[in-house]
Amino acid sequence: MNILTAMSSRLTVPFLDLKSQYRQHQAAFDGAMGAVIAEAAFAGGPWVERFEAEFAAYCGTTYAVGVANGTVALWMVLLAMGIGPGDEVITVPSSFIATAEAISFCGAKPVFVDIQEADCNMDPGLLKAAISSRTKAIIPVHLFGHPANMEAILAIAQEHGLPVVEDAAQAHGARYDGKMAGSMGLAGCFSFHPVKNLGAFGEAGAVITNDGELAQKLQRLRDHGQFEKYQHEVIGWNGRMDGLQAAVLSTKLPFLEERNAQRRQRAGWYFEQLGGIPDLVLPASLPEVEHAWHQFPVRIPCRDAVFAAMQGAGIGCSIHYPVPIHRQKAYHFLGLPEGSFPVAERCSREFLSLPIFPELTEEQVRTVTRVLKLWITRNHRVKNIAFSGKLAV
Ligand SMILES: Cc1ncc(COP(=O)(O)O)c(C=O)c1O
Repeated sequence: MNILTAMSSRLTVPFLDLKSQYRQHQAAFDGAMGAVIAEAAFAGGPWVERFEAEFAAYCGTTYAVGVANGTVALWMVLLAMGIGPGDEVITVPSSFIATAEAISFCGAKPVFVDIQEADCNMDPGLLKAAISSRTKAIIPVHLFGHPANMEAILAIAQEHGLPVVEDAAQAHGARYDGKMAGSMGLAGCFSFHPVKNLGAFGEAGAVITNDGELAQKLQRLRDHGQFEKYQHEVIGWNGRMDGLQAAVLSTKLPFLEERNAQRRQRAGWYFEQLGGIPDLVLPASLPEVEHAWHQFPVRIPCRDAVFAAMQGAGIGCSIHYPVPIHRQKAYHFLGLPEGSFPVAERCSREFLSLPIFPELTEEQVRTVTRVLKLWITRNHRVKNIAFSGKLAV
């Protein structure tokens, strides 16, 4: 019997545990949702306004505009900025596809800049070359909860008179030089999808900004272009946040700092246990950054084989993301062949996200690292033999 399969009867470490926070604060969640139901304040309304005020205060911005999800947040902020057909918006190919979809759904063209090795975020050294007369905005993504190099990106943007919209969908509570992710550019976009560091019990998102005019445009766009019922000033959309999600988010927000600290502690355990292993690249955490550890992505050659072995041993892992955006079928029309963005392409072959969530125990982290180290040791021993996904002892 192969040893990793044999271990699987004893091990199970989930990739995520979405039920435990509800169990810990069930009365508070039930009370908050019950109050919304009693008032039938389902679409927009006072709970949304309350969460918007709380989230803006937390991020240190003047406004937060609650919307239906993170994709809508990105799309609507670009619409509110007047971005449309013929325009280009610069972003990275190493992100969830929503970042590029939002650009495409405005009728604009996504222009990609490769990521840098240091933190797997936008490489500011490549940004200037991607700027053209059609460029209307830059969207850095704070991937995995690690803010991009905002100092360099903002300096280049300013030099070219371009607005920066931060995709902070994975970076709630992360900081760059002490500043909150999402608060440094013209606007910051958040997803509150249930798996995020601050997750709703359904779909939700928000845009934060200090620009009052932009906030007003967003408030109008998300509600069918109206401020007054049935008086539609512009063509908008239904992009509202729902009251139940706002109540859940208000209940969770006070715990976000503590839960991010628990994620940091778990990341620390991984660093202690996985340091110095050949062929295993640990995720960056640059000194100017306070990481939110939405994911803990290691990089490893033969990733698909390791992934299969970990799954076989009962360890929940994930891959963010197996195909960079420019190589997705949906974006083949851009004509960007393999080799266009080598760092993003290599990372997509090597990334393996290990479990990280506040309730993950030290023992579970030890289990994950033990299985990973065992695989690496054995694979090194047989490295000239094509790996079949099952290692004989
Ligand atoms: C980087 C990034 N941008 C945008 C989104 C879109 O957010 P949502 O799923 O709430 O639409 C996500 C969600 O996974 C994301 O990870």
